[in-house]
Amino acid sequence: MTAARRLATESAGPQTGRPVYELHGVAKSYARRSLHALQKIDLSLTEGSFSSVIGPSGCGKTTLLKIMAGLIPPSEGGVYLEETPVTGTRQDIGMMFQQATLFPWRTTLENIVLPIEIRDGKAAARAKHDEARALLELVGLKGFENQRPSELSGGMAQRAAICRMLITKPAVLLLDEPFSALDELSRDFMNMELQRICLERKATAFLITHSIPEAVILSDTVYVMSPRPGTFVETVHVDLPRPRTLDMMTDPKFGDYVRRIRARLDEGAFL
Ligand SMILES: Nc1ncnc2c1ncn2[C@@H]1O[C@H](COP(=O)(O)OP(=O)(O)OP(=O)(O)O)[C@@H](O)[C@H]1O
Ligand SMILES: [Mg+2]
Repeated sequence: MTAARRLATESAGPQTGRPVYELHGVAKSYARRSLHALQKIDLSLTEGSFSSVIGPSGCGKTTLLKIMAGLIPPSEGGVYLEETPVTGTRQDIGMMFQQATLFPWRTTLENIVLPIEIRDGKAAARAKHDEARALLELVGLKGFENQRPSELSGGMAQRAAICRMLITKPAVLLLDEPFSALDELSRDFMNMELQRICLERKATAFLITHSIPEAVILSDTVYVMSPRPGTFVETVHVDLPRPRTLDMMTDPKFGDYVRRIRARLDEGAFL
């Protein structure tokens, strides 16, 4: 069995793995504006699975991700990671946002070890430099350790941000439209990189996206959300082999998944 095939088998679909992340009856109202953002969210992410959520703007996707990350509390319901309630930010949860948000005065390497420096101090961060170099190599940024963010392209900065997310070895990756600012070619490339990293790390990933093809090509499961108050109105299991390749976008099955999700979204609102 080849390494890639073994990884693919180990990262089998959501039905077969061990549940690591669970949400039960999660709802969220923003009291100040008496705005009902989310309702009745039930979710179970299995180890090593890749899931996406897609839905109209303002339906509560970022709110959901912030609740999952422990950044804001739900108004109702429970969030559990490895059977323990998520009540604040945790080291085993990695997050990535639309913008890379690297500090301009720090080098790539210094940016990557920043979470360690914040948590454990400068000496601990220095001790992680070799690991940070290995991560840079993993994402194809070898040789850019000492550049400042202004000397990196948008895609390279996003790749550095991936390394910064991975340095604490999180078991779960929560991604809020991380590549939406990139051009289509860079985005395709980054999607394949993300898949490779997730397979290598056996990470459990949860991605918010506005792109139906991106959701389908990356995911074992795609959750379609209704307009606000957001809830899952359809769960689509994507039965395409891993590792996925961009060629699969021409597979008739791929087109079927895209059409099914598009039709569900069209019933509710625009993307
Ligand atoms: N801190 C907050 N206080 C009050 N209302 C908020 C707050 N954050 C978000 N909202 C509201 O909650 C709703 C959902 O916002 P959220 O950012 O979760 O949407 P989204 O699905 O991520 O949208 P987009 O696709 O545009 O990023 C919106 O109506 C927004 O105005
Ligand atoms: Mg959002």
